[in-house]
Amino acid sequence: MNAMLSTDHFLEIDDLEKTELFRILDRAAAIKSGREQPRLKEQTLGMLFEKPSTRTRISFETGMTQLGGHAIFLGPDDIQLGHGEPLADTARVLSRYVDAVMARLFHHDDLLEIAAHADVPVINGLTDDAHPCQTIADLLTIREMYGGFDEVTVAWVGDGNNVGQSFVRGAAMVGLDLTVATPPDYEMDEVVLKQAERLGPGPTIAETPDAAVNDADVVYTDVWVSMGQEDERTNKLDAFDGYQLNESLLESSSADVLHCLPAHRGEEITDAVLESDKARVWDQAENRLHAQKGLLVELLDE
Ligand code: CP
Ligand code: NVA
Repeated sequence: MNAMLSTDHFLEIDDLEKTELFRILDRAAAIKSGREQPRLKEQTLGMLFEKPSTRTRISFETGMTQLGGHAIFLGPDDIQLGHGEPLADTARVLSRYVDAVMARLFHHDDLLEIAAHADVPVINGLTDDAHPCQTIADLLTIREMYGGFDEVTVAWVGDGNNVGQSFVRGAAMVGLDLTVATPPDYEMDEVVLKQAERLGPGPTIAETPDAAVNDADVVYTDVWVSMGQEDERTNKLDAFDGYQLNESLLESSSADVLHCLPAHRGEEITDAVLESDKARVWDQAENRLHAQKGLLVELLDE
């Protein structure tokens, strides 16, 4: 068991107790401001990637370096996993070399399999179902903008995907007032929505994007076509008609705009909105680095 957290692994945002989530946010903020300069003990993070990444890869690698540790990028063709070695064997062997594993995979069950066989902490760097590292950075960004979470209203508009499903749980944990607008057939998993209700206030489900955006302080979206869903592109573009963050939807809104990035400009968000002063996406992307450093020191600094 890790000395500082109640969980051995970080596979979903609610693996953390609420107090632990707030502690990671506090440490991330302290590290970002320079008030805290923690050092790891030269630990190594193995980073397993089945899908591409800019932010997750670079923020974890840079974060480890800045903390006095080291990260190794393991792409699909770099190790025997991509050539038939089972996940369980990979997890057991990696545990003999590295101090933690971060994995970005398609199937969430594969992440659970790695965690079941690893003797070191496993961090979810995104699966088809969840992206909890993104949620920590999102919450850090919202807290920076509003000084806290009380009475901050957030609208999730778009796909009920991995980023949304982690955010909805994290939002409940910190007490955000969240409204979700997703089109028919692309809602968040019912189990996830029920979990969010158990973790905190739980989201309100809006019938339309307009209803969600109305009165929101923050509007958050993500791509409609996630990595691995390229074959569904045509159907999804039709289904998400009306859910684009554009000047018309935001006409009477002064909300700040979040997007986990990468953005597909012209699909879920327009160029004009992404380039406007309301878009806080660059701070949000930067906060991946600080958030993950907060997480890493809690997971590794025993
Ligand atoms: N937001 C995010 O996880 O971005 P990458 O896919 O670039 O890592
Ligand atoms: N929902 C997106 C997030 C990318 C960070 C995807 O899974 O491709």
